[in-house]
Amino acid sequence: MRVLILICGIGMALAAKAPLKVLNDGNKMPIVALGTGRGTAQNKPVEEVRDAVFWAIEAGYRHIDTAVLYNDEVQVGQGVAEAIKKGIVTREQMFITTKLPNDRHPRDQVVTTLKESLGRLGMDYVDLFLIHFPLSTKSDGSSDNIDYLDTWKGMEDAKELGLAKSIGISNFGEAQVDRLLANCKIKPAVNQIEVNPTMTSEPLVAHCQSLGIAVMAYSPFGFLVTRTRHNSTGPPPRIDDSTLNKIAQKYGKTTSQVVLRYLIDRDLIPVPKSTNKDRIAQNIDLFDFKLTADEVNSISRFNRNVSVFD
Ligand SMILES: NC(=O)c1ccc[n+]([C@@H]2O[C@H](COP(=O)([O-])OP(=O)(O)OC[C@H]3O[C@@H](n4cnc5c(N)ncnc54)[C@H](OP(=O)(O)O)[C@@H]3O)[C@@H](O)[C@H]2O)c1
Repeated sequence: MRVLILICGIGMALAAKAPLKVLNDGNKMPIVALGTGRGTAQNKPVEEVRDAVFWAIEAGYRHIDTAVLYNDEVQVGQGVAEAIKKGIVTREQMFITTKLPNDRHPRDQVVTTLKESLGRLGMDYVDLFLIHFPLSTKSDGSSDNIDYLDTWKGMEDAKELGLAKSIGISNFGEAQVDRLLANCKIKPAVNQIEVNPTMTSEPLVAHCQSLGIAVMAYSPFGFLVTRTRHNSTGPPPRIDDSTLNKIAQKYGKTTSQVVLRYLIDRDLIPVPKSTNKDRIAQNIDLFDFKLTADEVNSISRFNRNVSVFD
């Protein structure tokens, strides 16, 4: 009996936690992703990403968000490989997102760039490939003028070759989304943008969702957490905010979990970054409560259209 309880306990801890969302191309995406872009924490060794990815899979994540820009695709691949080797998941159960950097926008460089990412990840395909930004640069960082419509043709090539199961965009505004939709063969499945209590992005989210484009929410905590780039000058809420605390106490959750649940209740896919084992587990422990419409609205009222990025 004790053995059975132990096995069941392990099974529960290792099971997938987040439900799946069906994308407009029929593929299914887990609705919480581990963020691996470490921003200002990049002074820490990148090896921490390998452990974070492994702990995340143990905790029930099946979706990992990376990018060429984060310089951590090798470590993401190692974390996933370790979990596969230990029998926790198969590659097919995982959903891996990576992104095309700004200096690889010419159509004929898109597939080559993705193949390089796949080499670093140690994978045959990614589940989602995004244009990281709708702007192009030369390799020296100076601006270039490659139209993202041409870049998108390269993304379609990648999907048609089976190297990316789904393709999408990131940091595209409404007009850019519309122009792309009017000129594409394959619709973007996802737009990954910043959404958090001080940057609720309601018009853009509504626009994408009305077009069947799923929205991934990056920097989901906003200014809840310390952002060295802005010091403490960002608007509220902070982690000890009284409105968030009241909701957190009602459900027996933390204020960070309330903010992630707020995003899920807006039909968004949050991408929380953590390299701390306990916080990684906390950030996916979101599926035993749900906010009321009033609670969602009360959090949206923090909006100041202030981005955590310059
Ligand atoms: N597409 C894009 O252009 C774009 C731009 C930015 C970000 N992203 C993606 O989105 C991910 C997340 O964005 P982000 O890193 O800017 O912001 P974030 O996830 O909102 O915040 C990360 C910070 O919150 C801390 N944290 C995590 N969980 C916590 C918890 N439960 N309680 C308290 N603090 C917690 C982390 O520290 P610890 O690690 O110490 O826990 C870290 O300092 C990135 O990693 C990246 O994958 C995409």
